Amino acid sequence: MTRLFTVLLTSLGSKVVVALTGLGLAGFVVFHMLGNLQVFEGSESLNTYAAFLRELPILLWSARVGLLLIAVLHVGLTIRLAIHNRRARPVPYAVREYRKASMASRTMALTGGLLLIFIIFHLLHFTAGVVDASFSDRLDPRGHRDVYGKVIHAFQNPWFVVLYLAAQGLLGLHLSHGLSSSLQTLGLEHPLLNRLFRAAGPLVAGIVVLGNAAIILAIALGVLRA
Ligand code: HEM
Repeated sequence: MTRLFTVLLTSLGSKVVVALTGLGLAGFVVFHMLGNLQVFEGSESLNTYAAFLRELPILLWSARVGLLLIAVLHVGLTIRLAIHNRRARPVPYAVREYRKASMASRTMALTGGLLLIFIIFHLLHFTAGVVDASFSDRLDPRGHRDVYGKVIHAFQNPWFVVLYLAAQGLLGLHLSHGLSSSLQTLGLEHPLLNRLFRAAGPLVAGIVVLGNAAIILAIALGVLRA
């Protein structure tokens, strides 16, 4: 166990764990977007799906604790690696070489930090009902929690529309570079694989952002109603 921790705390070990946990979080974001797309099938579909996810509390809480652990490892080890890198090079580069680095790769710390703030806000909004409690206890005619009504109510408010769309921009940038670089960290060095990995990040990020933005805009524009 102690040896495992020693390996984990080496620079390479930390990079591998950051990559693996990043892939885990990306998997959650894709799964979450696919689940949320059921809003297009109507209230019965989304509310039944949300109820199904909560039917087995042991499974729900194991998934929640697992997700939290993955997120803590991802953020904690990323910060540790950044401090380590800064200590290794106390004098910054005289000229920053930005020509080859994309905007997404240069802004990973910023987009990651802002995403963390968004996720805390999002949990207080939809899961805990602290930001807006109006739909927290409401049930649909089948006795399920009215998650559909809560989502529709949220995006009928232009402030939430702007905030959630901005968060999609952050998510797109972070996921696009993070996914490609995680796959490259874990992958074998091969020109074909490298090209595939480089394309995977922007492709998955694009799909997630489009899916989430479609939900927000369909409600904001009145295509989906309560
Ligand atoms: C249009 C975009 C989104 C919508 C409509 C949405 C909707 C929701 C809803 C309704 C819940 C509460 C489910 C329930 O009470 O049963 C929830 C929970 C959650 N969302 Fe989102 N979400 C969106 C985007 C995101 C994004 C981008 C992330 C992460 C980067 C995220 C992370 C989470 C997490 C971690 C939970 C808590 C899951 C749990 O423990 O039950 N969501 N979301």
